[in-house]
Amino acid sequence: MAKFVITGGKKLSGKIAVSGAKNAILPILAATLLTGEKCRITNVPDILDVKNFVKILIALGAKVETADRALSIQSRQLKTHRPPDNLVSSMRASIVLLGALLGRLGRAEIAYPGGDLIGKRPIDLHLQGFRKLGATVREETTISVSAQKLAGAELFAESSVTGTENLVLAAVLSAGRTVIKLAALEPHVAALCDFLNSMGAKISGVGENILTIEGVKKLHGAETAVIPDMIEAGSFALLAAATRSEMEIVGVAHGHLDAVYHKFDEMGVKFEKRGNSLLILTPKNEYQSAILRTGLYPNLATDLQPPFGVFATQCRGITRIHDWIWEGRLGYLSELKKMGADARIIDTHQAEIKGPTKLAGNTIRSLDIRSGMTLVIAAIVAAGVSEIEGIQHIDRGYEQIDVRLRELGADIKRVN
Ligand code: EPU
Repeated sequence: MAKFVITGGKKLSGKIAVSGAKNAILPILAATLLTGEKCRITNVPDILDVKNFVKILIALGAKVETADRALSIQSRQLKTHRPPDNLVSSMRASIVLLGALLGRLGRAEIAYPGGDLIGKRPIDLHLQGFRKLGATVREETTISVSAQKLAGAELFAESSVTGTENLVLAAVLSAGRTVIKLAALEPHVAALCDFLNSMGAKISGVGENILTIEGVKKLHGAETAVIPDMIEAGSFALLAAATRSEMEIVGVAHGHLDAVYHKFDEMGVKFEKRGNSLLILTPKNEYQSAILRTGLYPNLATDLQPPFGVFATQCRGITRIHDWIWEGRLGYLSELKKMGADARIIDTHQAEIKGPTKLAGNTIRSLDIRSGMTLVIAAIVAAGVSEIEGIQHIDRGYEQIDVRLRELGADIKRVN
């Protein structure tokens, strides 16, 4: 199995560009199934989850052309409502195939999605919504949904991200009006709705927590550019801060990072917004601890909690973490402790980190996409050599991270 060997303890410098967002492109790929016409997607990140999602589209009958960070997809006719189990269970986002295939074909059957082991990851809200739209749902060794006809309904998404996306995908081609209350506010949910609207859907309230969808009979082809990955941007900013480096992060949607900037002000990270770049400046003083409470957008994203955790090892005082969204997102702290972090896991949702501590290289294991990137940051901060195992998780969500970080001066090698 491949691993990263990182010799840390050095400052970084230079520029790094942010890729298109993983959690934005995957539902957009599913949305292309809702039309027989050609769709074009640009700013496509070259990551494993995208490669696997494209394989799913091809297995369903889509024609896909790839060129220079762009994908052209045409699903003139779909040949099956059952995507391959192994690909579906390689990622979590495959759950949105249910809504897209239900909308296009009136039925879908998928294996249980896999992805990160970060918590229970229920889908009750997705299935309840499908039922309200008129579908029959069966949960056995697979999940099946089918409907003669979908009709608009009043739905409640409890801010679930893929839940909202799934219900939007199912509702756009249904008859009548659907209202989704407490829709998730994440920018990638809005990006999906914008793309669907450019395909001819009638969704209003985009970016707000009540979405109203007037069903239409047909959607047409459209083009969209994937929004910048706010989790990647935040992770690079934390890498710069934790290594006390000056770095320019290019292609940032500043408006998506309010919660990060708010914490940076509190913790003493000096930064500057310059056009669509984020400059992290060399700090003059020690960083300070803070309370890190994750929440629904625009609060601090749970996906940024682990990289903030490694940054907290470099801050003076006790940083308290409360991540209520997933019950398995603190495992990276056990790895950080092997590197010398003074961290205490209080329960599955809460931890305390006392800093500053000097981290030292060790052999550590990536547990999921975000903890993987976090350990890369930790290894670059730490003195000495670290070996990171389980890097297939990192490749699912971060494009050629080793190559890109080497350009900033990091000593990181991929060893097979
Ligand atoms: N929930 C329910 N019932 C449901 C659905 C969710 O109780 O039917 C609960 C969950 O248990 C959790 C909360 O609602 O406590 C939020 O879950 P949500 O459904 O919003 O998460 P998700 O859609 O499965 C997406 C991202 C995650 C990210 C979360 C929260 C994708 C593919 N995944 O997951 O991203 O952590 O939203 O922002 O969009 C990652 O990229 O590393 C990642 C895990």
